[in-house]
Amino acid sequence: MLPHSATDRWLTRATPANSRVFRPGRQPAPCEKPTRRWKLLEVGAFVFVTLCRSPGGRRRASTPRGRALSRRALRSVFEFFSGVGGMRLSFKDAVPAREPFPTWRAFEVDEACCQAYCELYGSKYVTGVRRGELWKNKNQRGADELWRCSIDRLPDGAFDGGDLWLMSPPCQPFTRTGKQKDLEDPRCKALLRLLEALPALAHPPQALLLENIPEFRGSRAHQHVVSTLSEAGYATEEHLLSPITFGFPNTRERFYLIAVLAGQDDAAATAAADLLPDLPTLPGTATARIPVRPVEAFLEEAAPSEMLRVPEKLLEQAYRENRTLDLAGKGTTLTKTFTSSYGKAEYGGAGLSKTGPLVMEAPDFPEDGRVQRFQTLEPARWKFVRYFSPREVASLMGFPEAWELPDALSLRTQ
Ligand SMILES: C[S@@+](CC[C@H](N)C(=O)[O-])C[C@H]1O[C@@H](n2cnc3c(N)ncnc32)[C@H](O)[C@@H]1O
Repeated sequence: MLPHSATDRWLTRATPANSRVFRPGRQPAPCEKPTRRWKLLEVGAFVFVTLCRSPGGRRRASTPRGRALSRRALRSVFEFFSGVGGMRLSFKDAVPAREPFPTWRAFEVDEACCQAYCELYGSKYVTGVRRGELWKNKNQRGADELWRCSIDRLPDGAFDGGDLWLMSPPCQPFTRTGKQKDLEDPRCKALLRLLEALPALAHPPQALLLENIPEFRGSRAHQHVVSTLSEAGYATEEHLLSPITFGFPNTRERFYLIAVLAGQDDAAATAAADLLPDLPTLPGTATARIPVRPVEAFLEEAAPSEMLRVPEKLLEQAYRENRTLDLAGKGTTLTKTFTSSYGKAEYGGAGLSKTGPLVMEAPDFPEDGRVQRFQTLEPARWKFVRYFSPREVASLMGFPEAWELPDALSLRTQ
């Protein structure tokens, strides 16, 4: 047993002046119960920390009073940059089904994402937000809406009233391979708009969870987020976490910032505490680490679609240029990050190894569980190489099996 609970540690660390980044260990050791719910982490982390912040650092939500408070506290959630709703999926996973679902408002500008989101969650698809000044409609009880809009073009009133803000702003302004224009990148406008509005709101969020790529950390946008939240009275906590930490054979390190409005008596706590594991492998948690299952556990049983074959011209180009490929056999226990260019034909052989891992189905491919393979691939073996399917990519990142993107989206878009 540890002398202090993780709760106490988090409490003492999480002050606006002392926000910290924790990087969990990279080589998980066995434990009894692997979890398939990496995505749960996004909200799980939030709920965990929030609960930790109740006075005395105890898990108040396990008491009747705590439960009542928790229901009251999380009446409304705003999910900014909602994409296809990864944050929402996590939230649903983290909060027990018996709990009343809060009023939900998602904000997204991309048409394909909006359609997929509404199909997945049954939210009402709302357009004409600005014209109709829809935020003035006070009759939002039980509402579950997706607003197709550009966040940076909305007034403060549109952001008033969410108890919890979830957000994954665009990461392109910070990527290593991009121009790194940071706050000057127009794709930061929406985040800036939210930060501008927040201090002026009559009903600011009790808590906020922001996700981005690791390069976000240390950016001017990051500094701006932290200073704005600090000045508005929020305590912040930061993490760098990856699916590999949670038993998935995939690296996808992401930055998470959790902010809680200080001085709120249990206000943002939810009743999910009993369902949530402590965040594994974080320094100070007593939870055992999770063993990594091999790629085989994440492959679809059905024969792969021919569309998943890697075009021969790409393999040929990679071969000619002596490019190494990240090939995963059934026993592989670590694959690289899937990028948004995964499966793009025009990316070329040179980029094939950079866009993400490939499946190697050759019967003689060694299955010794070795971590990662980079090798130049002989032409005779090209026929055994394929992309991971969208379902497999989702599983490797921790999406539950029941979660499927709508068929209407092309394979590449998925
Ligand atoms: C990093 S992705 C979010 C991913 C999301 N968490 C998910 O699970 O799919 C960022 C999203 O922000 C959206 N976006 C970018 N700028 C926006 C803006 N000004 N207003 C609303 N949405 C925006 C993009 O279309 C994209 O879907």
